[in-house]
Amino acid sequence: MATVTSSQKITERVSIEEFVGGLRKLAPEDFTGVQGTLAYLRANPVDPDSIQRYLFWDAQHYTRNLIDKTELYELMAICWEVGQRSSIHNHKGQNCWMAAPVGRLAVQNYHLIAEDLEARSCNIVPTDVVEITPESPVAVDPLNPVHDVRNPREWSQRAVTLHVYSRPFDTCVVYSEQGSCGEIGLSYRSMYGKLC
Ligand SMILES: [Fe+2]
Repeated sequence: MATVTSSQKITERVSIEEFVGGLRKLAPEDFTGVQGTLAYLRANPVDPDSIQRYLFWDAQHYTRNLIDKTELYELMAICWEVGQRSSIHNHKGQNCWMAAPVGRLAVQNYHLIAEDLEARSCNIVPTDVVEITPESPVAVDPLNPVHDVRNPREWSQRAVTLHVYSRPFDTCVVYSEQGSCGEIGLSYRSMYGKLC
């Protein structure tokens, strides 16, 4: 297990294989609340060299690349070119943790005031922004799960995030600040290192 000093400088990184091995040993309770898996991510920063075979880049859109999937969780690497961002979305009631082995990302959170999926209308307001850096993984707040993720152009660097979702889900709701929302399907760009 890697060590993180009090100044939060990473002193040792684990390979993605070691990371998956440990993830598979976590108890179902670690995925039910957010603290167990968050502590695991903090203690086990992943060596970027070990995830190269999972990374596929697209100038038009960020890519979702599956690394591991069980009944309990899915683990993916998301590749963010400079300036790319996600839609504002939820996670279908599932927990989510994010770490950034490469670069850093901004997560803009939103408070959902109202949502009517049938009428495709919503009311959301932006709240806080948190940063995901190699030293600081984050968990999505289950009580305020609506957010987007951004690799701001002014940061001028590619980024890779590792996402753990529990349990796996393949649809989510996307929102706009103008008040519309709707459900979309989610797909992978690659699975286990092979393009889909
Ligand atoms: Fe998300």
